[in-house]
Amino acid sequence: MARDIHRKETGRKDSALPPYFNIDPDAALAELEAPTSTTGFAGIAEGCARGRADLASRGLDDEGRKTLRLFSTWEITRYLIPVAQAHFRRVLKANPELPQGRSETEGGAKWFTLDEVLVLRAHFAAQGSKAKDYIPYRPKGLPAKMVAVANFKGGVGKTSTAAHLAMSAALDGYKVLVIDLDSQGSMTSIFGGRVEDEWQTAFPLLARHYGEHLRSENQRRLDRGEAPQPMDDALTTAMDMTAADVIQSTHWPNIDLIGAQLNLYWAEFQIPVWRMAARSWKLWDALTDRLEADGVLDQYDVIFIDTPPALGYLTINGLSAADILLVPMGASFLEFDSTGRFFDMLHSTFASIEEGENLAARALGRPEMGFEWDAVRAVITRYDSAQQGELAGLMQAYMGPVLSPHKQDYTALIGQAGEQVSGIYEADYRDFNRETYARGRETFDETYAAFKRLLIGCWRRAEVQMQSAAE
Ligand SMILES: Nc1ncnc2c1ncn2[C@@H]1O[C@H](COP(=O)(O)OP(=O)(O)OP(=O)(O)O)[C@@H](O)[C@H]1O
Ligand SMILES: [Mg+2]
Repeated sequence: MARDIHRKETGRKDSALPPYFNIDPDAALAELEAPTSTTGFAGIAEGCARGRADLASRGLDDEGRKTLRLFSTWEITRYLIPVAQAHFRRVLKANPELPQGRSETEGGAKWFTLDEVLVLRAHFAAQGSKAKDYIPYRPKGLPAKMVAVANFKGGVGKTSTAAHLAMSAALDGYKVLVIDLDSQGSMTSIFGGRVEDEWQTAFPLLARHYGEHLRSENQRRLDRGEAPQPMDDALTTAMDMTAADVIQSTHWPNIDLIGAQLNLYWAEFQIPVWRMAARSWKLWDALTDRLEADGVLDQYDVIFIDTPPALGYLTINGLSAADILLVPMGASFLEFDSTGRFFDMLHSTFASIEEGENLAARALGRPEMGFEWDAVRAVITRYDSAQQGELAGLMQAYMGPVLSPHKQDYTALIGQAGEQVSGIYEADYRDFNRETYARGRETFDETYAAFKRLLIGCWRRAEVQMQSAAE
């Protein structure tokens, strides 16, 4: 129990003093526990793990899996399939083979699973007015777009932004893959992922990429009569693994996950060791190459990559895999400042990779390489217009079009989300004041709309290029 050292030492007379004066050293000592050893951390971690398991067990299904809430007729016709409620009901009545939903009370509102919403949307798309885009745009014959959400500053809203975008893209009808590259595993928790160790993360994909490189290097060594480099057990195991082995489904029917867990951090030590052993290994291509080789880019529409608050090897892989880079930051001096430094680090990191590669390319007379992103946008998150308008205006003036003009408002509902419900799209609107809900939903819908414009623009550019190349 904490004692009020002040009261005891100073009495009521001095109670107007600030709390950091007159702290008695002996009283402070009496409150202190014994020094902490390494095993102390294990004890703390264990306490946290028990608390987490307790929290997580509330509101999960019998097998301990997260479940997604149902969607009401009001919500479907308002947000997901833009038709009048009366028309929606008429179409359902006329087509008894379509999902009919369920109601909690006799004659009450009808509720549907997201799977059912997707079936209904396909029906309206096939039968309904051609003027409305029930099914979102995705050009045929082009790969999924990969989106990395990154900033080396922590707590700026990377995971929240990526998770909300993934959910809104899924509600919009896209097939989504989420890749968690942060060993904190927050994104994995949001999507109810189960990850035992690094073998259920992106790690084996990176290991296989290196293994394939080592194998071809070894072939060259053998051809020259040199001894091959050993392939250890981990690499041998990874050589048989594909993306399908690490992709898991989630409680969202059209969102899959490659999860993360503490052991993924090991990759930050392992990757440089591999690179030392084989300097010609293009580590930054590992994730993209493996996703492409395993057909993942054809199976999904949009792939969101959540990254840790650091510019380590995992982040570099995520960034170089990305077509679209989103950099969330708050409208505060410190976050603006460190985001500027982050772009500086991106520049020097990728420029030094290009320089290293192109030195060799020039010597060998091969074409030079350069990284390229379809689009890069900084996004203001947790925005408070009453306090931050001036700073946001200044940021806009200096960053120009790279700063998305839409600012994601501070939304109290987001921070309150627990284990079962993550963010505005999983929350049941009946649990909130209608207006609070509508405002929160609107700011994330706007975040998605700004992103979707980028996505569609990038796809369309690729489509136009593909068409003109074919002519
Ligand atoms: N629009 C918002 N309104 C209110 N709170 C928000 C909003 N966006 C994010 N938050 C809260 O801010 C905190 C940090 O967000 P988040 O975890 O997404 O950041 P992060 O950049 O992924 O952090 P890390 O660097 O640790 O990975 C969380 O508690 C989250 O709930
Ligand atoms: Mg995060």
